[in-house]
Amino acid sequence: MHAVSTERIIQPARNIEGSLRLPGDKSISHRYALLGGLAEGTTRLTNFSTGADCASSLTCVEALGAKVVRNGASIEITGVAGRFRAPAHPLDCGNSGSTMRMLSGLLAPQTASFTLIGDPSLSRRPMERVRTPLSQMGARIELTEGHAPLTIHGAPLTAIDYTTPIPSAQIKTAVLFAGLQAHGRTTLREAVRTRDHSELALRAFGAQVERSKDSVSIAGGQPLHAIDAAIPGDISSAAFFLCAAALFPGSNLLFDDLGLNPTRATLLDVLTTLGAHIGVLNLETKNDELVGTVQVNAPPAGLTGATISGALSAQLIDELPVLAAIGPYTQSGIRIRDAKELRVKESDRIALVAANLRAMGAEVEEFDDGLDVPGGQTLHGAEIDSGGDHRIAMAFSVAALRATGDTLIRGAESASISFPEFFDLLDRVVER
Ligand code: S3P
Repeated sequence: MHAVSTERIIQPARNIEGSLRLPGDKSISHRYALLGGLAEGTTRLTNFSTGADCASSLTCVEALGAKVVRNGASIEITGVAGRFRAPAHPLDCGNSGSTMRMLSGLLAPQTASFTLIGDPSLSRRPMERVRTPLSQMGARIELTEGHAPLTIHGAPLTAIDYTTPIPSAQIKTAVLFAGLQAHGRTTLREAVRTRDHSELALRAFGAQVERSKDSVSIAGGQPLHAIDAAIPGDISSAAFFLCAAALFPGSNLLFDDLGLNPTRATLLDVLTTLGAHIGVLNLETKNDELVGTVQVNAPPAGLTGATISGALSAQLIDELPVLAAIGPYTQSGIRIRDAKELRVKESDRIALVAANLRAMGAEVEEFDDGLDVPGGQTLHGAEIDSGGDHRIAMAFSVAALRATGDTLIRGAESASISFPEFFDLLDRVVER
């Protein structure tokens, strides 16, 4: 981030209580922004994510010729009807890996050249993972030692049948977005089912997408048509509050209009396994996305413990930092494995979670692909280094609520990458 680094002091809490409605899901907002930019007609979105990441997707489609009208969280995007304009400047993806990888798929079949840049964190993240399938389809992509700046020399593409070596919805999306504009039928196979917002969004915009247990396929040459959509609240943002509430016997927290897509809602199962009481009400679907009301109450005897590994780790990838951060307060701890991808997120989240837990006095063991956080520990307030990573800043704000003494979060402004309202909403539901 280029913003000035700010600090936040988090004091211990007595309880968590209240009712929240959260800004729109980051993953869905990105996809609607990008597909709305390519589609024909004017897409009207409400409850669009307020995070800086999704703003990056909007400015990119704007630079590519879409017309974007912003009115708070209500956004109108008039798309380019299939043909992007070559932008005058490099496309700035900011801190957003989703923007850079998914947009690469959308641009690779467009016959022009595009350069995508990002902030220092994004410029360290691996991009070979999208270059490989897109160049197999016929695009030429230049990287610097596997990283951004990423220059795409777009070309007419040919469909492929591709098996992702890494469980990643961003890779899947890049291939499907390219496949939408390629010759033939593109098939993407994945060993672990990752979030399926792209499949649902493509359908909402009028494309046909076929799915089996472990594959998705799409025929090229299908036009997209604008949609009207209300974006559900972001469950990965809710995760910080759900975990916080699960720590305080007597807590009661309610979320209205929360996105509950089954490929994203695994945290609710984990919290239930840990002993929290989770109630789900008022289920409905909006543009094929499941939405509902969620209520959480902590178990009177405290949370038990859990091991998260295999497919679960991929499905919970964004929630693992906060689960690890509350691990010391559980009875038998939180063990995480098969989560090597955490090392190449906005920061090395395994290293930063371990370092910050230790700063708070916790015992923790770090592995190449995860962490062991023993339970039954008491933490003290400390100085936390967020590393400019939004999910680390928010995860340790949650850990701070049960610590003794105050905690200082450095780089607290990074929360605004996905959730600018985080600290204000925390103040609203925390009782001290
Ligand atoms: C995302 C997928 C995940 C996740 C990221 C958002 C998406 O990344 O960590 O925050 O919207 O598709 P990977 O697909 O690279 O694991």
